[in-house]
Parts: sequence; structure tokens; C-alpha cells
Amino acid sequence: MARRLVQDWATRLGFSVVERTKVVTAASELGRNALVHGKGGFMLMSEVQREGRSGLKLMFEDQGPGISDIEQAMTDGFSSAKSMGLGLGGARRLVTEFELQSTPGMGTKVSVILWKRR
Ligand SMILES: Nc1ncnc2c1ncn2[C@@H]1O[C@H](COP(=O)(O)OP(=O)(O)O)[C@@H](O)[C@H]1O
Ligand SMILES: [Mg+2]
Repeated sequence: MARRLVQDWATRLGFSVVERTKVVTAASELGRNALVHGKGGFMLMSEVQREGRSGLKLMFEDQGPGISDIEQAMTDGFSSAKSMGLGLGGARRLVTEFELQSTPGMGTKVSVILWKRR
């Protein structure tokens, strides 16, 4: 559902095919993390503007176990679930702004923005 919504919004906002693919892939990885590791959560999507430039902002939030070692979690190949461990690092590389906040026992919040190319 997240993939489809992001795809539709990015298309409507005039993002290129490459930009759309980037933001949809990031949404897919972060959404999957919220479901698999965070035990479910939500995504908030908004259009943002700065200096006449528009971007798509996605915020994923869950109330799961949280991440105790963020640096380790961001490292390519690290996974506590024996999966690929490329989701967080990959998502960070695909967007222009990336912010991860997490409190063990409380949950995780990841905000990303992909600014549209002029
Ligand atoms: N929303 C989340 N809640 C709790 N832990 C998370 C969350 N997202 C990521 N993590 C932790 O970070 C690790 C790395 O995430 P990721 O790079 O997406 O790899 P993978 O999902 O393949 O394990 C996960 O294995 C998990 O331990
Ligand atoms: Mg993942």
C-alpha cells in the first residue's frame, strides 16, 4: 500500500521515473522495517516546499522494540533478522534527507525527503 501511494503521489508531483523509483524503493524498505521489526506502524506522506523547490517527505513511525545501536543498524549487511541488512543504508542513499530517531522500548521514527530535481 505504501509503495502504491508513494508511486501515485510522486507521479502527480511530477517526479521523474528515476526519482519515483528511488522514493518508492526507500518507502518499501522503511515500510517493511516498520512492519517486520517494529511490529506495525504508520506512514505519513506530505509535499514539502523550500526555496521554490518541492519534495516528497515520508515519515514512518512504529511503537516496536526500537533500535539500541543505530550505527550498527545503519551498517550495510547488519540484520537482526538474518535478512539482507541493506534496507536502512539503501534507503539513506536513495533520498536527499534522512533522519532516524529511536528509543529502545518505545519505538522508531524515520523521516526522509526526496527533493525534486529542477
Ligand atoms: N523499525 C524498526 N524497529 C526496530 N528495529 C529496526 C527497525 N528498522 C530497522 N531495525 C533494525 O535495523 C536492522 C537493519 O535494518 P535493515 O537495514 O532494513 O535490514 P533488514 O531489514 O534486512 O534486517 C534490522 O535488522 C533491525 O535490527
Ligand atoms: Mg529492512
